Amino acid sequence: MPVASPQPVAQTLPRHIAIIMDGNGRWAKARSLPRLVGHQRGAEAVREVVVTCRDMGIGYLTLYAFSSENWKRPATEVGDLMDLLRFFIRRELEQLQKKGVRIRIIGDRERLAPDIIELIDSTQQRTAGNRGLTLVIALNYGSHNEILAACRRLATEAAAGTLDPAAIDENLFRQHLHTADIPDPDLLIRTSGEQRLSNFLLWQAAYAELVFVDTLWPDFGRAQLQAAVAEFQRRERRYGASGE
Ligand code: FPP
Repeated sequence: MPVASPQPVAQTLPRHIAIIMDGNGRWAKARSLPRLVGHQRGAEAVREVVVTCRDMGIGYLTLYAFSSENWKRPATEVGDLMDLLRFFIRRELEQLQKKGVRIRIIGDRERLAPDIIELIDSTQQRTAGNRGLTLVIALNYGSHNEILAACRRLATEAAAGTLDPAAIDENLFRQHLHTADIPDPDLLIRTSGEQRLSNFLLWQAAYAELVFVDTLWPDFGRAQLQAAVAEFQRRERRYGASGE
């Protein structure tokens, strides 16, 4: 029996990092600033984290920008978040193109403004050939809706007689998710001290290493990301095996 390594280190980088960017509101409140300023600073943090991932050679970065539950927020805040997204994509697109970043948006299109849908489509098309980091923005995204939509599509195919229900396995199921062409996240980070998944990548994160940090999202940058990756590298991933 092999002797257990004293430090079971997965030296490899995570191929896919997913982040729940939390704490913009508390960051602003602590400074007696409007929540919008917290979100604006949050968008700056996005920029730094994207560049860091790209520099580190990370393959995929998925950011939870707007959940299907975020519509419950006041209309002004929803509008501010959508404006920030428009602004971010328009302002950063040229730089992201130069850096070879491919942009993908996942989530439900219903309820999104027509100009946002247009922006998403043109951004995805324009960056589709890039081979650097893939930046996945989860927008109006929720895992329950995603899984239900997959079930509906499979049930429709089965009812039409084009799919044998016995053929539904993990592989076929994942092909019906928004992330069909994206590998599962290896590392999932949530900022601000909260320890929940909040309906984010529930299927995909089955074997992700979870790292919860107290830093509020606007204060999260290169150093914090590198620390989270170092934590990931200290973990031993066993996928249900014993590790012996
Ligand atoms: C959570 O903070 C954050 C959000 C709901 C939105 C995240 C959006 C951004 C970082 C800005 C734009 C995004 C991109 C991709 C450009 P919270 O408001 O829930 O904070 P709180 O829990 O402290 O109130």
